[in-house]
Amino acid sequence: MKLQRWIAVCVFMPGIALGSGAVDRIAAHKHLGVASCASSVCHGATQAFRESNVMQNEFALWQEFDPHATKAWQALTGAEGQAIARKLGLGDATAAKVCLDCHADNVPAGQRGEKFQVSDGVGCEACHGGSELWISSHAEKSATHADNLVKGLYPTEDPVARAELCLSCHMGTPDRMITHRIMGAGHPRLAFELDTFTWLNPHYQIDEDYIARKGDWNGVRDWAVGQGVAAVNLLEVLLDERAGFQGIFPELVLFDCHACHKPMSAGKWAPRQGTGLGPGAVRLNDSNLVMFRQVLAVVDKGASERLLTQSRALHQATLRDRAATLAAARALRDAIRAELPKVGAHAFDAQALAPILSSILADAERGEFRDFAAAEQAAMAVQSVVVAFKNAGALDEGRSHALQSRVDALYATVDREDSYAMGPFLSALREVRTAAR
Ligand code: HEC
Ligand code: HEC
Ligand code: HEC
Ligand code: HEC
Repeated sequence: MKLQRWIAVCVFMPGIALGSGAVDRIAAHKHLGVASCASSVCHGATQAFRESNVMQNEFALWQEFDPHATKAWQALTGAEGQAIARKLGLGDATAAKVCLDCHADNVPAGQRGEKFQVSDGVGCEACHGGSELWISSHAEKSATHADNLVKGLYPTEDPVARAELCLSCHMGTPDRMITHRIMGAGHPRLAFELDTFTWLNPHYQIDEDYIARKGDWNGVRDWAVGQGVAAVNLLEVLLDERAGFQGIFPELVLFDCHACHKPMSAGKWAPRQGTGLGPGAVRLNDSNLVMFRQVLAVVDKGASERLLTQSRALHQATLRDRAATLAAARALRDAIRAELPKVGAHAFDAQALAPILSSILADAERGEFRDFAAAEQAAMAVQSVVVAFKNAGALDEGRSHALQSRVDALYATVDREDSYAMGPFLSALREVRTAAR
């Protein structure tokens, strides 16, 4: 029996098998609706239960604090969302598939149970998967996590699977695209970092029983894996014939917004080693690639150097032609996929704090963070790394406090993308590095 369960886990856990399609897995079974989870004896308690494995007040937390509940839906009913849809000629945003796919749990009509309401926004099953097969059994004492996964519960605890799920809305995929046209109509730019975002509005906590049921938690690993999955995701969109190219231009949303959107005042250009591009080139948004290189620098130095070479090859290819670009993107995507298992299995312990910060700083000193998007990712990375080490008890109270105030100062330098400048960012980063010594 035990062995059978283990095999089931191996088959159904996505492990490192990227591209298995988070969206398809989420929609594989009927979605019964948030109301089906919200009873006071299920997940709708007002206070956390002491005797239970899970808090059981998840619904209340989600409804009150989580932007996926009311806010995600209201983004479509509100004036801003309605205006975006109107400018795009889509009519009512609450009826437009492209908007609903990310702002609600938009499974096909046949996959919706009686209590399902699309106006519930990004509901429980949009992340945990259709509950048709597991709803009646998952709370039984004898049900293991592995049993639930076999019945279609989505493995949100697995960093690769979670990254694929979150990015399907927070970055877009070939089937769920946030295009430059949508941005042009006024949609906010999307930015995501797996560890930071996982802990912004949590309805879960990692305690002893959690670890016993699902294994240990490591925020640095989640940051690291999240960067790799995001880089692969960008390349997948670029490689997709429908999504990657629009008319005579490639899809502009894949490029660094500030390559185009900045004042024309002369003399701002300077070389970036990571691209090797000359002046006047439109650069791919390589912020996740730049970060994944920092990840690899602590896991496998050689692989990190190869990634730099391959990223530069991709940037250069964008100036040649489409075939060369696609070939370079394919090679890079495959290389990152091959490295991901190593990253997922790496024990990022307290010793890794200094080298990760040093690696980011070394890149910054070379001018890699000239572009806003990469600087923003670096700030989120530094925050995640510091918090993870704080949680692991690797920093004492005083040091942790000093470090956090430097991290806050670093964040302040990426607060306004339109006025971002590398100088202040670099100084703030040096301060963080000094405080971490
Ligand atoms: C690929 C997924 C995706 C698609 C497609 C998408 N959105 Fe969004 N949208 C998001 C995410 C994610 C955010 C939140 C960004 C953040 O804060 O990080 C957002 C934010 C917004 C906001 C700002 C909300 C706020 O609280 O400030 C509005 C308005 C909005 N979207 C409307 C729309 C409309 C209208 C459409 C259809 C034309 C649409 N979106 C399509 C993912 C998407
Ligand atoms: C945006 C995605 C998302 C939505 C929406 C969401 N969850 Fe979660 N949920 C997560 C993540 C991520 C975790 C933490 C990782 C894990 O253990 O699976 C989690 C954890 C949980 C846990 C704790 C599991 C444990 O083993 O301790 C419960 C229970 C839960 N969610 C229930 C709900 C309910 C009920 C709703 C709807 C009211 C909901 N979730 C909505 C993503 C989501
Ligand atoms: C079905 C699409 C969808 C999925 C899946 C999804 N999100 Fe979201 N998320 C959204 C939308 C839409 C918003 C914007 C809500 C608003 O403010 O209008 C959002 C907002 C957020 C915010 C608030 C951002 C801010 O700027 O304050 C966080 C944090 C977040 N999501 C984390 C996650 C994480 C972590 C996951 C994966 C476990 C995830 N999301 C999965 C659609 C999604
Ligand atoms: C290759 C150059 C290029 C890149 C890269 C690019 N844009 Fe644009 N953007 C344009 C052009 C051209 C327009 C149209 C301007 C006009 O209509 O006058 C535009 C328009 C816009 C508008 C509408 C501005 C307005 O005045 O209404 C927004 C918002 C926008 N882009 C956001 C973004 C975001 C966000 C990104 C990155 C994800 C991005 N752009 C990347 C060239 C670019």
